Amino acid sequence: MSAPRQLTVDWTIDANIRRAETLPSKVYRDADWFRALGERVLAPSWHYLTESTALVDHGAQVPLTLLPGVLDEPLLLLRDHDELRCLSNVCTHRGKCIVEQPTRSRSLRCGYHGRRFALDGRVLAAPGFDGARGFPTPRDNLAQVAHGQLGPMVFVSLAPEYELDELLAPVVERTAFLPWDALSGATEHVRYEVAANWMLYNDNYLEGFHIPFVHPGLAKALEIGAYRTLLFDRVVLQLGIAKDGETAFELPDEHPDAGQRVAAFYFFLFPATMLNVYPWGVSLNQVAPLSPERTAVRFISFVWNRELVLRGAGASLDTVEQEDEAVVESVALGLRGRIYQRGRYAPQHEQGLHHVHRLLTEMLERPLDDRNPQPSAPRGGLLG
Ligand code: FES
Ligand SMILES: [Fe+2]
Repeated sequence: MSAPRQLTVDWTIDANIRRAETLPSKVYRDADWFRALGERVLAPSWHYLTESTALVDHGAQVPLTLLPGVLDEPLLLLRDHDELRCLSNVCTHRGKCIVEQPTRSRSLRCGYHGRRFALDGRVLAAPGFDGARGFPTPRDNLAQVAHGQLGPMVFVSLAPEYELDELLAPVVERTAFLPWDALSGATEHVRYEVAANWMLYNDNYLEGFHIPFVHPGLAKALEIGAYRTLLFDRVVLQLGIAKDGETAFELPDEHPDAGQRVAAFYFFLFPATMLNVYPWGVSLNQVAPLSPERTAVRFISFVWNRELVLRGAGASLDTVEQEDEAVVESVALGLRGRIYQRGRYAPQHEQGLHHVHRLLTEMLERPLDDRNPQPSAPRGGLLG
């Protein structure tokens, strides 16, 4: 991807939601802003990569590309005895991708000129390099990519500006009573493609304001008047409260929401992951930008209580998704026109949106520095 041309942030998002205006439409529309968001927001952030459940045996490995079309980073997730490692999958010789299919082996061998690496990324053999001066150096090893886990979910960051544990702290605080380690491997993968910018998909997720207008079925399960939004550094939590007779969590006495009938914890993890925690399990939505006008959204379900799967607020995810896509695509058409530039926030309902627009603006304002990932030590897991 070419470096974005110099773009300047010529708008502000007032800290006071009652006065603030929304992000300008050009940020959702222009290819240059799309690239700038990739470099300045997506590259230094944490992203869901995959689940760890397939990587049980020593030497098991899966190649994955992080955010194809935006970051395009070839990664290799593998099991090295007890340790889960995430390495660059790009050979340090001339750049071939080393592993091309999920496989299992005791070392890694590049198929181009035979360079071999240990499972921890160290270069073991480099045919043809006898006599090369100052070789090998640590730069000839495969870079370790920062990663961590929440139950079976593996998250990575190419150049983390903060720890994964810090990002996940609000999730852990509210859901530590749930059996994360007992979550099944992903039971369902569904991929949707939406004709809209990825941030429009996020924006829609970040407010429950539209539920009574757009989701008649979901509105029957939730007590709309009790819906709440809580803001954390890089997390927005929306609490869906169950109507009488609808399925809800049994919260422990010391829980911050004890006494309320929570049907769903909707966590938005800045900038592109949603964790929807229901009494039956977790539905993770990964938002993958494809172009300024196209977005792939992956829904991945992890179950801890199969009996509850078809009940309550998390019962008809596909219907709700279709309803959301229809409005989000309609907004994308609206923003393509010249007349609409910016809107205002509904102060009682759109705090999440306002918070995220401020974060995005703050990250876009920073000058681009050298974001090359530096080799780093593997991180431990959280809750698992
Ligand atoms: S590119 Fe891997 S050995 Fe040459
Ligand atoms: Fe919705």
